[in-house]
Amino acid sequence: MAENQRTPQECLLAWSEDYKIRSGHRPLAYIHSYGCQQNVSDGEKIKGSLSKIGYDFTDNTDEAQLILLNTCAVRENAEDRVFGNIGGMKHLKEKNRELVIGVCGCMAQQKHIADKIKDAYRQVDLVFGTFAYNDLYAMLWEVISKRIRIFNLSENSFEISEDFLQLRDDKIRAFIPIMYGCNNFCTYCIVPYVRGRERSRRPEAVINEVKALVDRGYKEITLLGQNVNSYSYGFPALLRKLNEIPGNFRIRFMSSHPKDATEELIDTIIECEKVCTHLHLPVQAGSDRILKAMNRRYTTADYLKIIEYARSKDPDFSFTTDLIVGFPGETYEEFCMTKELIKKVKYDNIYSFVYSRRKGTRAAEMEDNISDKQKGLWLRELLLEQREITSEWLGRFVGKTVTILAEGEGRTAPDYITGKTDENIIVEVKADKKYIGEFIKVRITKAMNWALEGELENNL
Ligand code: SAM
Ligand code: SF4
Ligand code: F3S
Repeated sequence: MAENQRTPQECLLAWSEDYKIRSGHRPLAYIHSYGCQQNVSDGEKIKGSLSKIGYDFTDNTDEAQLILLNTCAVRENAEDRVFGNIGGMKHLKEKNRELVIGVCGCMAQQKHIADKIKDAYRQVDLVFGTFAYNDLYAMLWEVISKRIRIFNLSENSFEISEDFLQLRDDKIRAFIPIMYGCNNFCTYCIVPYVRGRERSRRPEAVINEVKALVDRGYKEITLLGQNVNSYSYGFPALLRKLNEIPGNFRIRFMSSHPKDATEELIDTIIECEKVCTHLHLPVQAGSDRILKAMNRRYTTADYLKIIEYARSKDPDFSFTTDLIVGFPGETYEEFCMTKELIKKVKYDNIYSFVYSRRKGTRAAEMEDNISDKQKGLWLRELLLEQREITSEWLGRFVGKTVTILAEGEGRTAPDYITGKTDENIIVEVKADKKYIGEFIKVRITKAMNWALEGELENNL
């Protein structure tokens, strides 16, 4: 068949076979995903597509024929890290003329970033955003066969392709996107600009994927979305359907936007035994004025109402949250309201970030007169407060027996393994490594400020 009649996939397969004959091994790809689990999941799909055309994978950029950085744009330091890494790859291109270097994901979806790469990082051959995964073969073949640079920032694909092979690194836990994009436009956040509007996967597709993973032995499924509560086909209904799937596994999900978190969601979590009694409910700030400026569309009173409802049903209900310190115009008094809020809620853990100005967002235009140094000090203050809360609040588990999913080797000592409770709390336990990948029962003996420690009871 003539070259121009073959699909890009067929051309790439023929190329990789030729490469194997020339070099004695399959071409190697180095794929690195930064940022959130959504990005990690996209990275696994990219790996699946590359494996179909004959690539193997490596952790060493020196031996790769393809380097792809799947990037995150949520904060400036994430972007700086990527530019640093691309800068350091110039010499690889000088050593290996056939090497293809690509940048994809959220950062690559922004025009000013693509322009910067075009002008200042000539070692990069391929730049594509979060909508272009379906075109991967066509783009890669153009680069390899014609040695031209490709920049694809199209936003055209609103269809969800279910036709992806996903190569997962983890054999126990799997992340499954149930929806893509975000409609909320919180004023500080770049995600709606780089991920487009919300679109939900059909429940049957999600259910079939979960069933297949459980059949393959996966023990923990985490459903992903920027706001799973606005899943088009009804999120509590989806949880109930997944809960009916037979098998020994647990279900988690993230994130939940507080404006859409309902009592029905809490009831569903409590009633479905496979759904973990843990809610990651990002509050972002403890001052109503700042929440309004962030366009979060709830007040602290609305937020506390849902916490109180959950704790009235289950006093140990676990919450974690995201917090931003130093939003433009935030005063020290307003920051202190965030500290008050975390004391009231008693989170098991918080993920807190210094505000980072994102070009193109509404907050980027707001006056911001607090120095980064000052914001860094506030962040430290917040973390110290949370450390005390965690060590005290984790005390509620001491003397109780909990079920954990053992995930890997422990930090405490070489003969320890580590895992997480239903509430997503780390437990360190002295036990044989053969339990890794299994649910085990542990009697909690000690609460630390980052984890629990316990003794193995009996295997489930
Ligand atoms: N969709 C999720 C939600 O609204 O709960 C959040 C997803 S975002 C990828 C993860 C977290 O990053 C946010 O909850 C927020 O705390 C933080 N974040 C987002 N934009 C930020 C910015 N410009 N500066 C600092 N932190 C930011
Ligand atoms: Fe960003 Fe807000 Fe959307 Fe979360 S809900 S991704 S913080 S815009
Ligand atoms: Fe995730 Fe970062 Fe994009 S947090 S959605 S990878 S901007």
